[in-house]
Amino acid sequence: MVHQLISYVNHWLNEVNSHSLQAPFIYNFFTKYIQRDFNKGLFESIEQTRRKLLDEDYLVATVNYGAISIVHPDSQQTKVSTIAKNGLTPAKVSRLLARLIEFNDAKNIIELGTSFGLNTLYLAQKENSSVVTFEGSEDIANVALTNFEHHQKNNIELVLGNIDKTLPTFLDARIRIDFAYIDANHKYKPTIEYFESIIKRMHKGSILVLDDIYWSKEMTQAWNEIKAHPEVTHSIDLFSVGIVFFQPDLVKTNYRLMF
Ligand SMILES: C[S@@+](CC[C@H](N)C(=O)[O-])C[C@H]1O[C@@H](n2cnc3c(N)ncnc32)[C@H](O)[C@@H]1O
Repeated sequence: MVHQLISYVNHWLNEVNSHSLQAPFIYNFFTKYIQRDFNKGLFESIEQTRRKLLDEDYLVATVNYGAISIVHPDSQQTKVSTIAKNGLTPAKVSRLLARLIEFNDAKNIIELGTSFGLNTLYLAQKENSSVVTFEGSEDIANVALTNFEHHQKNNIELVLGNIDKTLPTFLDARIRIDFAYIDANHKYKPTIEYFESIIKRMHKGSILVLDDIYWSKEMTQAWNEIKAHPEVTHSIDLFSVGIVFFQPDLVKTNYRLMF
């Protein structure tokens, strides 16, 4: 909590808005895809599912692959409503993800950390896209699968199991990834390992988003390392998430922007 608070104040003091952005690429990206919430209101049916989950009091078995659970550190059984309230990204971030895949016209999308599949559904709304999402808890995955069925989405594949094992197998067979969203194991080492292996399948137009970059010192350490990676050209810190680009014609720059 102290780390999050200090990081938040630091971000607030240093973040900039469009007036400070000179370079055309970042100015356009920021004003058209981050500031403009142009897809607000388009996902009402997914938000209805979120509201339903907030009312579900049955228990699901969570998994703990090293990081302390965001929701219930001591419990293996957690109410669906508790996870829906505390363990999911807000709709504002989900809409941002949906705008980002419009920006780079992503077709091959991966998501680490399905949970109940709300962000997955946002990502799967895009035409001609396919989303592969990874989840370790069978109970949680079953809730997500029910949601995918309810929304009649057949462009989603859910990979069940520990991402440490399932991701390398998946990547061995996958040639190209246009967009990756990482919101799973909140530890430094696995986060860096996931990043390193995913970018081998990315190209200069790909985008990678890391969630919860100030959730813990370990996550901030991972974010700092990702920003400094030689293949990352632009990084954008929105406090809640970090976005990275790999376009070789961009001059390496790190931005902290208002969101
Ligand atoms: C923060 S939640 C994801 C929330 C989701 N992005 C959303 O907002 O809709 C993280 C999920 O990742 C899963 N997870 C964490 N570490 C994992 C691992 N090593 N392998 C598989 N799943 C994992 C957890 O079970 C949890 O459901």
